[in-house]
Amino acid sequence: MSQSTAAPPAPDILSPEYIADPYPFHKVLRDHHPATYHEATQSWLISRYEDVSAAFRSPAYSSKNYDWQLEPIHGRTILQMEGKEHATHRALLNPFFRGKGLEAFLPIITQNAAELVEQAVARAAGELMDDLASRGRADIVAEFTTWFPINVMVDMLGLPKSDHQRFHDWYHSIMAHLNNLAGDPAVTARADQTREELREYMLPIIRERRTGDGEDLLSRLCRAEVDGQQMSDEEIKAFVSLLLVAGGETTDKAIASMVRNLLDNPDQLEAVRADRGLADAVIAETLRYTGPVHMIMRQTEQPVEIEGTTIPVGATCILMLASANRDERHFANPDVFDIHRPDLDVSKAFSGGANHVQFILGRHFCVGSLLAREEMTVALNLVLDRLPNLRYQEGFTPKEVGLYTRSVESLLVEFDVSPAA
Ligand code: HEM
Repeated sequence: MSQSTAAPPAPDILSPEYIADPYPFHKVLRDHHPATYHEATQSWLISRYEDVSAAFRSPAYSSKNYDWQLEPIHGRTILQMEGKEHATHRALLNPFFRGKGLEAFLPIITQNAAELVEQAVARAAGELMDDLASRGRADIVAEFTTWFPINVMVDMLGLPKSDHQRFHDWYHSIMAHLNNLAGDPAVTARADQTREELREYMLPIIRERRTGDGEDLLSRLCRAEVDGQQMSDEEIKAFVSLLLVAGGETTDKAIASMVRNLLDNPDQLEAVRADRGLADAVIAETLRYTGPVHMIMRQTEQPVEIEGTTIPVGATCILMLASANRDERHFANPDVFDIHRPDLDVSKAFSGGANHVQFILGRHFCVGSLLAREEMTVALNLVLDRLPNLRYQEGFTPKEVGLYTRSVESLLVEFDVSPAA
């Protein structure tokens, strides 16, 4: 009997089947269509690890796509800058997010996480009085992960805690807009309103902080200089707006996926409970296996050849991080979550020498990778210490959602808790 050797067609990344479970389709792309044109998004899909990681390091690709993709939402940000302008902005930001600069903010991270988890525990304990089964319940996403990175950011910027809710609302509005593939006009209108509200809110505060001597991130950004150059008011406002997504959504989703991965793999949950030295491995493997950022766009500045296909100059490319991180050419058994895997370099996982691509590689490598690691470590330790015997609520099955960014939409858990006094 003859077997057909025809390659399966390239999957449609906007189809309901892909959105429900993209991972098997990534393999089809990697194996049969490593560089392929996707008509509906008018973009080239690039899916293999080698090609994705090389693209981020190559001058043949620029991030000019952000001129239309993100500038209308945030204003002009570091993401779309290249060359000297980009280097100057990196130099302005790095001191606050790496080394001693970051250390100064660690108490803010710890305190915010502890407050949220304690609130969830207290609420669960309070509800126990009516709960015959005597167990605490929570939605880790709604009660913890969507708040935590945003609250940290608001406090780092030295803005009032009473504005946590306001930033939370702006955060959800921007996220809804970025995921508004159907083009719902109500979502677009709310995002336009958010842009105006954030601008009106931030600009007077930025002007005031220019002359003060505050030690918060915003005051220090207002005073920081590289080669005699400061960030303009508009640039600082745009950066704060960007942080809601770049630092907020990513870490929110990464923490949710980390907890989900451990609940799905109880032996690994117990391993890290017993040995907290495994925290970095849990975080790094979560970023590889279920990293929140599935796709990053770039624009070609010259024709590029990938696996025998030529992509013309000026093309939009979708670099498929989630696919690259599960490329069997780079990681053995890539569809298995394994905190002990020998082929993931945990010691370099949060630096530019990483061998996963969740923070990308090259000149736009994530400024906040160490902050993300810190937030995820604090979250992991709290979950292990404060939510004993953590398990899914009966009948709950986690469901991933999202195309560009992706994670579980909710995480309904139970844990042992004493009734409130
Ligand atoms: C798990 C959490 C995080 C993930 C997965 C992540 C991922 C990424 C990725 C993929 C990029 C490259 C974007 C591009 O070049 O197109 C990036 C850049 C960036 N990230 Fe993160 N990020 C995380 C957390 C954070 C945090 C907490 C901050 C807060 C400071 C942050 C700030 C930034 C900034 C400012 C850039 C732009 C860097 C540049 O263009 O030079 N990120 N991040």
